Amino acid sequence: MGGRERSDSPSPILTATGIRKRFGRKLVLDNVNLEVRPGEVVAVVGENGAGKSTLLRILAGFLAADAGEVDSRGRVGYCPQEPGLIGLLNAREHLRYFGAARDLPPGDALAQGHELLQALGFPVGDPTLVQNLSSGNRQKLNLVLALLGEPEILLLDEPYQGFDQGTYVNFWNHVETWRDQGKAIVVVTHLLVERQRADRLVELRIPCPSVVGGEPPFGAS
Ligand SMILES: Nc1ncnc2c1ncn2[C@@H]1O[C@H](COP(=O)(O)OP(=O)(O)OP(=O)(O)O)[C@@H](O)[C@H]1O
Ligand SMILES: [Mg+2]
Repeated sequence: MGGRERSDSPSPILTATGIRKRFGRKLVLDNVNLEVRPGEVVAVVGENGAGKSTLLRILAGFLAADAGEVDSRGRVGYCPQEPGLIGLLNAREHLRYFGAARDLPPGDALAQGHELLQALGFPVGDPTLVQNLSSGNRQKLNLVLALLGEPEILLLDEPYQGFDQGTYVNFWNHVETWRDQGKAIVVVTHLLVERQRADRLVELRIPCPSVVGGEPPFGAS
């Protein structure tokens, strides 16, 4: 890891410094730092509950940190762990709706979206409402919505959950392509084999509450 970093690497397009986040008395992120440059893949790893999704929400601007800074110098495409889809709309309607939020004319949103969906093996043109799609196909749509408008920064929170084997391999091939195109990619992952695909790792650990802030451990009486 880190072997790809060279003295002529571009400067970071996304930098997070000293991020701290609490939910009530539970400290979730304590002084977390992350940076990603164009053409780089950073894997965010850690056990369940370590704060990976919380960190990505903060990086995406959906959640405020209690302390620390996020400096983002490009457009962000965020693929949340839980798909933020609308059950009563179909895939085509999602592309138009989410495309409009990115200032894409409907024709462009559909063209871009259909190409990406096709590449992931989604049944393009299927009018099935999202609430009746298989969970793997819902996840494909969730990922494609993050890619609409060709953002320079991709924040992907376990985006391959529910993908079949072929789509999973395909997904990582796409990550390589996006990296080669100069996108900056932050991807939450669990599997060892995926870590080897990344240029760098950010490993999160559940902070020890008795050390930080001097408060009793969460849940302690
Ligand atoms: N809105 C919230 N309110 C209260 N606690 C929260 C909230 N969101 C997350 N948490 C807590 O923060 C901690 C980190 O959650 P998070 O979802 O970021 O973990 P994660 O590393 O993504 O886990 P997983 O691998 O299971 O996806 C957990 O203890 C969780 O219960
Ligand atoms: Mg998570």
